[in-house]
Amino acid sequence: MMKVEWKDEYNIGIASIDRQHQKLFVYLSDIRLALINDDQEEAIQKAIQNLIDYGIEHFSFEEALLKEGNYDLLDEHHELHNSYNEKLIRFKNKLVHNDDPMGTELIIFIKKWLLEHILVEDMKYINSFKSSGFKSSNMD
Ligand SMILES: [Fe+2]
Repeated sequence: MMKVEWKDEYNIGIASIDRQHQKLFVYLSDIRLALINDDQEEAIQKAIQNLIDYGIEHFSFEEALLKEGNYDLLDEHHELHNSYNEKLIRFKNKLVHNDDPMGTELIIFIKKWLLEHILVEDMKYINSFKSSGFKSSNMD
């Protein structure tokens, strides 16, 4: 199954956000391990729920920062976070068997989504903050 490893090149340059993104990868890696170890359905569901819960926490931190920095694409960004959350919840409800190919599909979807989101969508607000000179203490 596809590896899940954090790489330094995924850092976007805001320490607090980078730490949170890295943690999302740890939760994703936990799901991968639960699937590989053929854990009980309950354990797999719990691992997915942990990622969903931490994602919600991270997104609200990030959105508060975007609001503070008057980011003009905040609404769109919020929508991206929302549809990801909804998709994960749907996946979690459908994933019944450990050997389900859906497990592999889930890992691929999340990894791809997180990377594209971080490197494309999150980089957009970084660039916007850079040009406006916005700096918050929450960025440390
Ligand atoms: Fe984001």
